[in-house]
Amino acid sequence: MANANASSTGTTRTWHPLLEQRRSWSLDPVVAPALCRLAQIERDGDAVTALSIGTKRISFDSESGQRFARLLALMNGRRTIRELAAETDEDLDDLVDIIGRLYAVAAVWNEADCLVPSGALVSNLDHLSQAFQLALGERIRGVRETFEDQPSRRLVVGYLFEYFHMVNDAASHISPAIAMAPTHRSRGILCELLADEYWHGELLRTGLHELGFSDDDIARSDPLAGSIAFINHLRGAAMTDVLHYAACVLATEAGSEAMGRDRQALLVGRFYESLGRDGVVPPEALRPFAEHDLVDCAHGHSSFAGEIIYEHDTLTGQQQESMRRTMLRHLQTYGERERQLVRFYSAPEGPPYFTADELPLS
Ligand SMILES: [Fe+2]
Repeated sequence: MANANASSTGTTRTWHPLLEQRRSWSLDPVVAPALCRLAQIERDGDAVTALSIGTKRISFDSESGQRFARLLALMNGRRTIRELAAETDEDLDDLVDIIGRLYAVAAVWNEADCLVPSGALVSNLDHLSQAFQLALGERIRGVRETFEDQPSRRLVVGYLFEYFHMVNDAASHISPAIAMAPTHRSRGILCELLADEYWHGELLRTGLHELGFSDDDIARSDPLAGSIAFINHLRGAAMTDVLHYAACVLATEAGSEAMGRDRQALLVGRFYESLGRDGVVPPEALRPFAEHDLVDCAHGHSSFAGEIIYEHDTLTGQQQESMRRTMLRHLQTYGERERQLVRFYSAPEGPPYFTADELPLS
C-alpha cells in the first residue's frame, strides 16, 4: 500500500494530514463579521481595552482600542470587511488581518453567504466549542463542583457508568460516519478513529469491575436520557453529513488544539485526582478512565475531525452555518447530560446505577 504509514495509535495510516497546508489562510473581504455572544468586551471610556472569549484575551493599547471600538459599533454581521474598511477608513489588508485573528479564536462569526477557508473554520469551531464548554461549566453545577462540596461514592459511580455508556457506544456513530464518508481518505480517517475507539468501552468496563459490578450489572444499566441524546445526536449527524459529524467530534473528542493537549492532560489528571479524594472509590477503578482520556488526548482524536474538514479548501455559507449549529446542539446535549447526571446521582440514597424502569424524577 503506497500511502500507508504508522499512525500514533499503532494502526496502519492510509491518509496524509493536511493540517500544515491549511494553517495559513486569509479571509475574503466579502466576509461579514458579527461579534460572538460569548465574547466579552472590556472598555475604558470610549475605548475597548480588551476582548475575551473562552480562555483567550486580546488586549488593545489606547490608539488601537479607539479604532476597535469604532469597528465594533459597525460590526453587526450585515457589513462586509470591505464595507467596514470603507466606513472606518481602515486599510483593507489590515482589517482582513484583524478580523481574521478574531475569527480564528471565535470572537467573531461570518454572517455572509460566502466561502471561508477550512483552516479558518476549524480554528473558529474549535475555539467556539471551548468557550461554549466554559460557559456551560459556569452555568451548570457539574459533577466536579458537586463532588467537591460533598464527596459521594454514588455520584462518582454514576459518573463512571454514564461515561462508560458514552464511550462503549462509539462504534454506533463512527460506523455510520464511515458508511457516509464521501472520499476514500475520509473513510480511512474514520476507520482509524474506530480502530482506536472500539475497544475503549472494554477498557472502562475493567474500572466498573473494580467497583464490584459484574457484567450482568453493567448489561442491566441504562444511560440517562442526556447520554442517549449525546450518543444519538452523533449518530444522527453521522447519517446526515460527515461534515456535521466532524464538527461534533471536533468539539467533544479529546485533544483540542484550541485548548492544547498538555493543558487538557493536566486537567484530566486533576479531575480524576479530585474524584479519588477521600477514598470514596479505589484508585484502581479510576485508573482505566484516566488512562483512556489521556490516550485519546495523546492520539489527538479531535484533530481527526479537523482532517475531515480540511479535505475542503473552503466551506460555503450554508456549510459553515449548519456545522456551527450542529456542533452547538451537540454541546447542549453535553450540558444536559451533566445536569441530569448530578440530579440523579447526587442524592445520597438511590440505586447504584440508572435503569430505564426508574420513575421520572418529579
Ligand atoms: Fe476513546
